Amino acid sequence: MRSLAILNQKGGVGKTTTAVNLAAALARLGRNVLLVDLDPQSHASLHVGIELSAGDASIYDVLLHGAAIAEAARTVSKRLSIVPAHIDLVAAELELAQREERERVLAGVLGPYASLFDYCIIDCSPSLGLLTVNALAAAGEVLIPLQAHFLALHGLGRLLESISLVRHGINPQLRVAGVLFCMFEKATKLSQEVAGDVEQFLSAAEPDQAWHGARVFSTTIRRNVKLAECPSFGKHIFDYAPASHGAEDYFALAKEIAKAAKSIQVVAEAEVPVASVMPSPMATPSEALHHAAQ
Ligand SMILES: Nc1ncnc2c1ncn2[C@@H]1O[C@H](COP(=O)(O)OP(=O)(O)O)[C@@H](O)[C@H]1O
Ligand SMILES: [Mg+2]
Repeated sequence: MRSLAILNQKGGVGKTTTAVNLAAALARLGRNVLLVDLDPQSHASLHVGIELSAGDASIYDVLLHGAAIAEAARTVSKRLSIVPAHIDLVAAELELAQREERERVLAGVLGPYASLFDYCIIDCSPSLGLLTVNALAAAGEVLIPLQAHFLALHGLGRLLESISLVRHGINPQLRVAGVLFCMFEKATKLSQEVAGDVEQFLSAAEPDQAWHGARVFSTTIRRNVKLAECPSFGKHIFDYAPASHGAEDYFALAKEIAKAAKSIQVVAEAEVPVASVMPSPMATPSEALHHAAQ
């Protein structure tokens, strides 16, 4: 399983839009995908039409109350499942802080599912708190959505430093897969300049820096109103507007990511035997999750 954390400590840059639609695009490419909503605002869950009621299991129960991922996961569409979030996840930062191995809780719970899914996409909150550290400890790669405006570089250095800290202290295999320009307007001079600056900044990385080898994805996500509309219909772009520029761009991104050399798999190999989560060797991940939750 390749696991990608979608991260930027700024809000409104396109993290959730990317997490949901990249996950859906990878599923359309035939990959089995688990989307994890790790933001208490639950935007990724709402984006795919899931609003939890009291008593429904969520990522909070998985992280803090021993619920299995299989109990919380929901099927979104073919080959795509989500572990949804609820606002109660805000309490997780404090509760996790009391735990031993508090940075590795998510990595631990994902372990048994590593051979069940091809991709795990983690939608992070706009902060660098303990939940985000858990995402970075569980992920092999970080994808950084960015908007090409003049403050784009401001904050990127801090973000990359934080990723480096996690890499040195917790997860030595973590690497930055790349920077993705979202809401991109190719025609403007400013966009071109910012993209050039970011590329230059990344290419100047030293070999021991977590962002060494990181690049700007050649796919850019154009500003597209369909992408902004689809969350309110509880649909990803491929169900809402499959012929839109938004669908075209996220499909191109999925192909670019799938083509990249198979990255390091950081989620620890299953400590629990896979047979105990899968009801039968023939089951699809969605079926397996469903059965395991019974
Ligand atoms: N390519 C795009 N074109 C148009 N609107 C977009 C695009 N990407 C994101 N948006 C909109 O911008 C807002 C912020 O995006 P979102 O993905 O929620 O950011 P974040 O998760 O980083 O806070 C949302 O209203 C979203 O629908
Ligand atoms: Mg978001």
